Amino acid sequence: MALNITFRQLKVFESAGRHLSYTRAAEELHLSQPGVSMQIKQLEEMIGLPLFEQIGKKMHLTPAGHEIFTYSQSIGHLLDEVEVVVKDLKGVQSGKLAISVATTASHFATRLLAAFSQRYERVTISLDITNRASLRDQLDNNVPDLVIMGQPPEGVEVKSDAFMENPLVIIAPANHSLAKESNIPLKHFEDEHFVVREAGSGTRIAIRRFFEQHGVSFHTGIEMSSNEAIKQAVEAGLGLGIVSIHTLELELETGRLVLLDVEDFPILRHWHIVQRAGKRLSPVAMAFKQFVLEEAEQFIRLPG
Ligand code: PGA
Repeated sequence: MALNITFRQLKVFESAGRHLSYTRAAEELHLSQPGVSMQIKQLEEMIGLPLFEQIGKKMHLTPAGHEIFTYSQSIGHLLDEVEVVVKDLKGVQSGKLAISVATTASHFATRLLAAFSQRYERVTISLDITNRASLRDQLDNNVPDLVIMGQPPEGVEVKSDAFMENPLVIIAPANHSLAKESNIPLKHFEDEHFVVREAGSGTRIAIRRFFEQHGVSFHTGIEMSSNEAIKQAVEAGLGLGIVSIHTLELELETGRLVLLDVEDFPILRHWHIVQRAGKRLSPVAMAFKQFVLEEAEQFIRLPG
């Protein structure tokens, strides 16, 4: 014969068994004392064995009571887990996600977000694309859930995880005189004027630092706030450019630009996913972070 035990009976019994008191179980569960005693009486009748015994003034669990108590605790923990999982599922399926990315990361971030939103169709995503200086302010003001940028910012407490390499390369128009040379000395570029990103760009800071570390002077030529504009300017012969390999798509395959083979290049960097220290990520944000850390690379196509 199947037992028709209810969750409610087990919950009441577990509380009474833990406190060894109907009165304290009633208080804990906001029930009346007769309500508790009735639930336990029904449970005992269904099982056909007493669960508590009174010895002197003290209540004790009977051997059957001990057995059922162990099960009722395990079932209680499982139900708590179900609650957490359900909450998480609801959050991931219908939450909001605010992501901010460095200008350079926008070349692949849109692809990542498209793949993520295919998996979680009801998540509403907002994407802000801006440079490193403004990402730092956003983190400081706790605006986005997560940020994708080159180097984590200074002066704000953050938690960051590297997830993919971000090599910076020198690009030139296809007919450039150095296009076929290999291992070109870095010194060669001392008098060169590069088409560069605006001040505040992470790429620009990394390039400057690299030349400083190698004791070679670096001259900025025309400034532009978009990688697309830099590629077009280089193609048009306005100067050489240094960009993340992730900004290059068909330009190399179609022969519109070439990579120069320069000593100590590429400049090796990493992409990071960053959050403000102490920030409690929503279930959606946690799912996105995990997605980036575990799967990002497979959605990103490198030229050539
Ligand atoms: P940027 O940032 O687009 O501001 O240059 C990218 C990076 O930090 O590498």
